[in-house]
Amino acid sequence: MNGTLVGPLTFGSVEPNSGLKNALGKNRADVIADISASGIKGRGGAGFPTGVKWNLAAAAKDDRKFVVCNADEGEPGTFKDRVILSEYADLVFEGMTIAGYAIGATQGIVYLRGEYSYLRALLEAVLEKRRQQNLLGEDILKKKGFHFDIAIRMGSGAYVCGEETALIESLEGHRGEPRNRPPFPVDTGFMGHPTVVNNVETLAWAACILAKGPEWFKKIGTEKSTGLKLFSVSGDCARPGVYEFPMGITIAQLLKEVGGENAKAVQVGGASGRIVPAKEFERTLAYEDIPTGGSIIVLGPQRDMLHVARNFMEFFVEESCGQCTPCREGTQKLLEGIELLEQGKCSTRYLHELCALGETMQLASKCGLGQSAPNAFLSIVQHFREELMGRNNLIPAGKE
Ligand SMILES: Cc1cc2nc3c(=O)[nH]c(=O)nc-3n(C[C@H](O)[C@H](O)[C@H](O)COP(=O)(O)O)c2cc1C
Ligand code: SF4
Repeated sequence: MNGTLVGPLTFGSVEPNSGLKNALGKNRADVIADISASGIKGRGGAGFPTGVKWNLAAAAKDDRKFVVCNADEGEPGTFKDRVILSEYADLVFEGMTIAGYAIGATQGIVYLRGEYSYLRALLEAVLEKRRQQNLLGEDILKKKGFHFDIAIRMGSGAYVCGEETALIESLEGHRGEPRNRPPFPVDTGFMGHPTVVNNVETLAWAACILAKGPEWFKKIGTEKSTGLKLFSVSGDCARPGVYEFPMGITIAQLLKEVGGENAKAVQVGGASGRIVPAKEFERTLAYEDIPTGGSIIVLGPQRDMLHVARNFMEFFVEESCGQCTPCREGTQKLLEGIELLEQGKCSTRYLHELCALGETMQLASKCGLGQSAPNAFLSIVQHFREELMGRNNLIPAGKE
């Protein structure tokens, strides 16, 4: 890991709107080249290279294009985007405007989590101020022909609406169900037009990269995971909150900063992430090791891991959109399996079958929700089998 630990949010301490000014002094291709050279990957979880995404949308032939800021933030244990929008809304809107310039879009849309409706008035006020300062609207900062504005749309209250194609369905006024891909949103997105969907944090960093240059960003973190990252830290630690750390920080280093050194495990990546046990705390939070959108749930020594698994699985049973069988039925079956484990009625053979079902869901589900729903359960079985066995007195195979 390169770069010192940062802790409180800095966002590179950039001067407001210097990124946008720099971007408008370049041609569109050079703006995207800067984003690509920084090595930034999406901060929403999937880790797709932002420069590649912008390039694809820029190359798509269409008179109308859109930039969507994904502010749905439904992943349990994630709250960094709420903090960014509360304290750095200008930076996010600046990043959206830069993206709009780079891909040739005229309209930005913030898809704001329903529960964040209290933020809407603040965000609208920031947008209005930006319009008055000619940072939005026609011929932005006197750049002839560059018109861009941003609207806010409220989310529909389902976790799956954070998945980019379900989000677009929801924006179009339909039920929020994931689409088949391809075609991808960069080609056929909102109302059938090329659309870049980026996480709140990704867009904020894009503005910083244009302000400070790609080399600044690239020097921080690891070779494959560049830059700084925000982490939402909750659970059994002394100092929960939102932290800014370089990519590639080890879990042990992070736990020391947040006062969670005696944890028995950490759930990295929210409900859809996985359990990392204490013996693996030297591993790094990086795309090449343990990737994450930034949710870190610290689990202290007293935590009952089966209860943790149940908690996450109940969430997925509730949030599965029901469109495909592996996810709709699989989440239900895994929850029933967890209940059998709790009652001490799950045979070793059935536990194997549950794990095989989880692996099938990872492969056969249509979208990231079903593909990741078994992760927590599988990693708990992998790392805490003895705790499950001891507590539940698993019935050995052949004796059920
Ligand atoms: C079930 C599900 C929920 C998701 N929720 C969010 C979300 O709340 N915010 C987000 O930025 N990305 C979310 N994503 C990822 C998006 O589909 C998409 O990859 C992301 O918005 C792209 O932005 P990025 O490249 O800047 O990370 C979710 C994915 C899945 C499968
Ligand atoms: S994996 Fe789950 S959430 Fe995704 S489409 Fe299938 S049923 Fe819906």
